[in-house]
Amino acid sequence: MLQTDPCILVIFGASGDLTSRKLIPAMYEMHVLGQLHASTVILGVSRTAKTDDQWRDELKPWIAQQAKGFDEAKWSDFAKRIHYFAGDAAKPDCYPALDTRLGEMAQQKGTKGNLLFFLSVAESLYEPIVQQIDEAGLVTEGKRWCSIDPATKSWQRIIVEKPFGHDAVSAASLNRALGRAFEEESIYRIDHYLGKELVQSMLVLRFANSIFEPIWNGQYIDHVQISALETVSVGQRTAFYDQTGAIRDMIQSHLFQILAFVAMEPPTLYTPENVRAEKIKIIDSISVPTADEVAAHCALGQFASDGKEGAYHELAGVAPNSTTETYAAIKVHFDNWRWGGTPFYIRSGKKAAAKRTEVVVQFKPPAANLFRKVTGFGGEAPNRLVIEIAPRERFNLRFEVKVPGFGLRAAAVDMQMDYGNEFKAEPIEAYGPLIVDAMRGDQTLFKHRIEVEGAWNAVMPFLDDRSAKARANIHGNYACGSWGPASADELLGRDGRAWRNEP
Ligand code: BG6
Repeated sequence: MLQTDPCILVIFGASGDLTSRKLIPAMYEMHVLGQLHASTVILGVSRTAKTDDQWRDELKPWIAQQAKGFDEAKWSDFAKRIHYFAGDAAKPDCYPALDTRLGEMAQQKGTKGNLLFFLSVAESLYEPIVQQIDEAGLVTEGKRWCSIDPATKSWQRIIVEKPFGHDAVSAASLNRALGRAFEEESIYRIDHYLGKELVQSMLVLRFANSIFEPIWNGQYIDHVQISALETVSVGQRTAFYDQTGAIRDMIQSHLFQILAFVAMEPPTLYTPENVRAEKIKIIDSISVPTADEVAAHCALGQFASDGKEGAYHELAGVAPNSTTETYAAIKVHFDNWRWGGTPFYIRSGKKAAAKRTEVVVQFKPPAANLFRKVTGFGGEAPNRLVIEIAPRERFNLRFEVKVPGFGLRAAAVDMQMDYGNEFKAEPIEAYGPLIVDAMRGDQTLFKHRIEVEGAWNAVMPFLDDRSAKARANIHGNYACGSWGPASADELLGRDGRAWRNEP
């Protein structure tokens, strides 16, 4: 296993929700699990003036609430790693003092000049901050004057949170801005879905077994469903969400990561380069619908009022004529030999019937049904593999068996592997292992520039003017607590298929 280097984790956006709710609790969990180098420290950067201790006091309740196994003694130990710096990171005058502070910390803690920046700010600030980091000379790795002696060589890396751009053009612009300051090897485009156990486990299931891969193609698989449904609403983030919507917020980012792992070709070796190369290829082979096809390839919705909260377009912060989708289902095809003709249906929505993140791999019916004259054998397609990613972590494989007793009757049964039961492991915050990977210099679970731009190209028809027809009559077109709008059922219904909507 690669060693975790000592470093300063510099979080821009220290006062933000993501930092307190996810990043710091994740770092606490990593501290408790012994995954952080003893010298590693955290420096939060935000505009509000506060001391290290004030920030620690603010963070403590979040850790107690969010992290697994809160313990006072461990917290006191972890709190020593936490520091704060007040400044506007998008402005140049912040940097002389920040540079001095980083230098002092490096000296005191022995972090060897290694810096891991984390952009946890509004997306509009990404480019200005990256530019300031560069102009302040904080990135020395790869520069002519940087030491090449391994003993004294330092690194500077940057983790970039989603949304990575707003569309294909802005993502390319952000990539260029990052590229001016950092090498591609130092840019970590994070997607917390890649930190989820079951998402990573899909690669092991597919490629560490010999029983799945031979049938993992359009000859045996009828279709695949990828769902990420949530019961929650958009919360306080209405203004952000109204500029974003379900396709940007969930599908282009998180669900395309799952899609890539389900559909990609086997890498020759589990290395960052090989895994990322296969992801680039599979995303690049998504067939982009023509303008005429868009409406038939997607279903978009906005939740109606549930009596307590208004309908989406009535919420404060949302434009009354907003057509931003809080639910989206899209149909994806790949232009490649493995999947030619096999549809992948992808959906995500707020205020749905259940929290459900899962992959359904539906196999075709047997090529010949020798039981067709026997009662109880419908010749349907019983075989399916359901990979439950959240809230439960389970693999379920369904197949037909004979029902005990006289006569020949069949029933579909599920064989199940439950992660909690099998490994007695509690799920941990997905950000933790990913940030530790960045500290180790392992990019396997981070997105490459070309992949991100490819993912944007694939969804643009569902976002721009080509999607206008699919957005007509969107207001309140699905009930809260439902599985989505009727058009989502029709999307599969037209192909003679149905969503797995099992509670
Ligand atoms: C975030 C989205 O990236 O992922 C949120 O911005 C969404 O809208 C969240 O609720 C879902 O993450 P998880 O891990 O709870 O499935």
